[in-house]
Amino acid sequence: MKVLTVVGARPNFMKVAPIIAAINRHNEDSDDAIHHVLVHTGQHYDAIMSGAFFNDLQLPTPDVWLGVGSGSHAVQTAEIMKSFECVLAAERPEFVVVVGDVNSTMACAVVTAKVAWDCTGARPSVVHVEAGLRSFDRSMPEEVNRVITDHVSDLLFVTEESGLQNLRNEGIPSDRIHFVGNTMIDSLLAFKEKAEASTVLERLGFRNRAGGISDYALLTLHRPSNVDDPDAFLNILAGLNDLGHECPIVFPVHPRTKQRIKDFGLRPEANGMKIALIDPLGYLDFVAVMKHARLVVTDSGGIQEETTCLGIPCVTVRDNTERPVTVEHGTNTIAGTTAPQIRAAIRRQLQRRSKGVVPEKWDGHAAERIVDLLVRASADPANAHARHLAVDGRRPDFTVGSSVPEAIPA
Ligand code: UD1
Repeated sequence: MKVLTVVGARPNFMKVAPIIAAINRHNEDSDDAIHHVLVHTGQHYDAIMSGAFFNDLQLPTPDVWLGVGSGSHAVQTAEIMKSFECVLAAERPEFVVVVGDVNSTMACAVVTAKVAWDCTGARPSVVHVEAGLRSFDRSMPEEVNRVITDHVSDLLFVTEESGLQNLRNEGIPSDRIHFVGNTMIDSLLAFKEKAEASTVLERLGFRNRAGGISDYALLTLHRPSNVDDPDAFLNILAGLNDLGHECPIVFPVHPRTKQRIKDFGLRPEANGMKIALIDPLGYLDFVAVMKHARLVVTDSGGIQEETTCLGIPCVTVRDNTERPVTVEHGTNTIAGTTAPQIRAAIRRQLQRRSKGVVPEKWDGHAAERIVDLLVRASADPANAHARHLAVDGRRPDFTVGSSVPEAIPA
């Protein structure tokens, strides 16, 4: 059985790491080894957006590096598709696993769904991890990616109840859908103790010599709708003003956001807010900062889930969420994006007492369930695509884009 897994952008790495670890455990215990191939599209390529995560999450060096880099949605997606088709032809896996909702996810799913090895239309099965999430907001590039990926997938692994319902409503046959839990939470649970050894809180001045931790808030912003328009960005900063006078805000700045701050000449600290703009953090440092924050303000998808699991109040600076379980059972609130809405949501969340409930199956075992289901699907003669193992088991003797790096490029 050969499984090819795709990663491309920062939020993919922690979703894939537990799947690779579960495959390795399977291979230790079973005579039927799974041959695994890791492909990195290069959508994110900086050391701080990619390389650091490979170290922290103990991910293997990718077998194939496509080196597509940045570009408009069309250019980036097209480059990934062109390169990935060659990899698929050379590797001929039985399953292609894509995770989340970034451009790399959608591009590789579509390519896999449309290849045909012979006149019967034989091809690998498309496996989508984190299927079924819907914001019902088609202006989000991620929502378009989610819908397309789910509709070309053969196996859909769902993280929360809403995902099951959404997929059923869209007419996806139920025998393709499995509620397995959340591999991003597998990573969080696996690494949260290790993150305690991070010295990031000392470096930021939040932990004193006696080990006491002072109050601070954590902020992340990268969504184009929030940072690409100066008025929208200024509105959010105005909404954060009260918080920034009450306690320091630490703000690891995504490259897109950094560029916009420069383009618009913004000075977030200008009105007296205590706000520290720092480079993006690696995985373990970020988990350490999130775990001890009094409050997290974000427009990320994954951070809504991680704060729910950690019981940390979260204010989501958006008008919707594709992860409703974080609001219904967890610690998340959807603030909206105007200054008064953000201010009010922060006030509410600072007074919050409940730590919420960890959603069903967010128990650290999602990846094991996924690997078990892949093994079962492979053994099932009814699996339409199960015939197409590697032609001769060789690795491809080429790389696409740049060469395969010894380590992820810095
Ligand atoms: C992408 C995902 C988004 C995810 C986010 C996490 C899509 C549509 N969006 O958005 O869902 O939440 O990643 O970060 O796939 N850049 C660098 N270094 C890098 C990568 C990017 O400097 O390693 C800069 C480039 O100028 C690039 C910009 O960041 O143009 C945005 O990168 P891009 O991959 O297009 O989208 P993200 O905003 O990161």
